[in-house]
Amino acid sequence: MGLALGLGAIWKSIIAVLLVGFRSPGAEEALQSLVPQRFSHGQSRDCLYNRTLALYVVEYAAAVYVDDPAALMSWTCSRCQGLTSGFQITELIVDVPHCLQAYVGVAEDLKAIVIAFRGTQETSYQNWAEDLYFRQLDLNYPGIEDAMVHSGFYSAYHNTTLRDSVVRGVLSILARRNDLGIIVTGHSMGGAMATLCALDLAANFGMIDMKVITFGQPRIGNSVFAAGYYALVPNTVRMTHAHDIVPHLPPYYTLLGEKTYHHFATEVWIFKIQVGRLQYEFEQVCDSSGEDPECSRSVTGNSISDHLQYLGVYLKTVDE
Ligand SMILES: *[C@@H]1O[C@H](CO)[C@@H](O)[C@H](O)[C@H]1NC(C)=O
Ligand SMILES: *[C@@H]1O[C@H](CO)[C@@H](O)[C@H](O)[C@H]1NC(C)=O
Repeated sequence: MGLALGLGAIWKSIIAVLLVGFRSPGAEEALQSLVPQRFSHGQSRDCLYNRTLALYVVEYAAAVYVDDPAALMSWTCSRCQGLTSGFQITELIVDVPHCLQAYVGVAEDLKAIVIAFRGTQETSYQNWAEDLYFRQLDLNYPGIEDAMVHSGFYSAYHNTTLRDSVVRGVLSILARRNDLGIIVTGHSMGGAMATLCALDLAANFGMIDMKVITFGQPRIGNSVFAAGYYALVPNTVRMTHAHDIVPHLPPYYTLLGEKTYHHFATEVWIFKIQVGRLQYEFEQVCDSSGEDPECSRSVTGNSISDHLQYLGVYLKTVDE
């Protein structure tokens, strides 16, 4: 039960992670009693969210923030170790005029081509978030009738050097390898580009074996776009963290119907529960609507610091 991804199917699971402190007898039970009933174990299991994979992928999403092309090309940067070590980058795209960066390469341990997009380089996240608030749905997404997106998001991927370089990079790997899947990732604005890229690869290049994991991405289109995206790229995990402001933007207006921005499935919401001096993080796999009212939408989006950290990894440009 619960694995039917059909309309309205609600399937949730929850994974508890002990963040601080140590395991003591009875701690598990004590914690259980604090977790609201709807979060409790024993509900239908979900196969989509693979936490181990997410821990790898968040490292790739962090590495694309590295500013030193040589350290990226040789995969020797400070963030090019640990879970991502051994990655072979084949294409590094630096679009200086638009302040964009992405890479393509092969992760043998994941048996995958990894494509990662960098988030915004705005000096003030606060200003950037305020600007996101007012973005209009002003472009018909080509190929999906009635699907609308914001032209700025669309252009960042389709109307810069990114699209051609990424597609060329992927095709040239696939020309010599047929044993690799594709993983697409990005944080923040990079998450928006990652999803537009995955949709492009699915719709225009027929790529099927694709996983998408984004971190703290904004909404990018209306509900028709969200449904169209989900139909073509179902293996998508859209991670949100506690009060991260960006997934709340541009705003979702229930009463606007087709005219409002609408997230696609499947959100995985990381939320925190404070127990005395200990803080626990839980991950909740949300429903197939894309706008689960019990996930990030159940809290206010007012935090930049929650935006900059996912699964213990800091996602921002740092000096090497
Ligand atoms: C989750 O991902 C890891 C890393 O790619 C993989 O080794 C593992 O088999 C996956 N688990 C499932 C249940 O697919
Ligand atoms: C793409 O870029 C061109 C040239 O900068 C511009 O004229 C066009 O309006 C852009 N398209 C979109 C969808 O933004």
